[in-house]
Amino acid sequence: MNVLKLIIGLLSSITPMDVDPDFIRIGGDLYSMRLANKVAIITGSAGGMGKAAAELFAREGASVVVTDIAEAEGAETVRGIRDAGGSAIFVKANAANEEDVRRMVDAAIIAFGHVDVLYNNAGIMPAEDGSVTDITGATWDRIMDVNLKSAFLCSKYVIPHMVKQGKGSIINVASFVAFMFAVQYGRHGIRCNAICPGPIETPLLRVLWTSEEARDLRLNRIPLGRFGEAKDIVYMALYLASDESSWTTGAWLMVDGGISSNYF
Ligand SMILES: NC(=O)c1ccc[n+]([C@@H]2O[C@H](COP(=O)([O-])OP(=O)(O)OC[C@H]3O[C@@H](n4cnc5c(N)ncnc54)[C@H](O)[C@@H]3O)[C@@H](O)[C@H]2O)c1
Repeated sequence: MNVLKLIIGLLSSITPMDVDPDFIRIGGDLYSMRLANKVAIITGSAGGMGKAAAELFAREGASVVVTDIAEAEGAETVRGIRDAGGSAIFVKANAANEEDVRRMVDAAIIAFGHVDVLYNNAGIMPAEDGSVTDITGATWDRIMDVNLKSAFLCSKYVIPHMVKQGKGSIINVASFVAFMFAVQYGRHGIRCNAICPGPIETPLLRVLWTSEEARDLRLNRIPLGRFGEAKDIVYMALYLASDESSWTTGAWLMVDGGISSNYF
């Protein structure tokens, strides 16, 4: 690991004397390699929070499997990570399709040999997802497939590898499955937690801002006075992915600028 730090330190144009044993500097930022030697699969990582997580995890030393249906953007994410000295591959896969997921996990194992972190991030919020009385069955099914079934499928194919190695961390974006897996696989050393994001400024949220008023309606509810940024969520994901969270499982972690506590 020290050799890796040294190489990245040199690539970042700093002398070896400047390399603190516990930190490396990339650009202006310090990174402590909290995910050194770990392999992380992040679904939906061609854009939004998934992309931010892929970049952060790679900077913290993980080898990242970037997987998404968006091919060009996924490849671009990987290019950016590699240009910065990180390790990543892109696997085009629909996280809601069993055959795609099986192939994606196989590709991860072939490329890196093991999987330590599964971040079930892929999700959609189509404009036609209105009220319960308006939504069509087809739209409901599509949302359930991408937002829920994908977490089941990815877990189905990743957990056997985690069981074999006796450890792993599964991060779901707000899904009840977090509890099921946490209880069932705790004795195998597999932790499973859910992040519950508040309104985060990504393309998914921006489609709802049909007017200044529509935007302000949400903004005014947030005690911290701003929408979240992708990094607000992925730092929580980084904690869950690292061994620092080794006694955290079955938890719902609210990262929402305080909006869910705002009853005024
Ligand atoms: N943005 C928010 O305010 C917010 C709030 C709460 C929860 N979330 C959840 O956080 C997660 C990330 O959201 P985001 O805001 O970054 O969204 P985003 O739309 O910016 O990015 C989502 C990514 O998922 C990919 N994707 C979509 N369907 C896929 C599929 N079937 N298989 C693989 N990849 C697929 C997209 O191509 C895209 O790259 C989602 O699960 C979303 O539901 C978002």
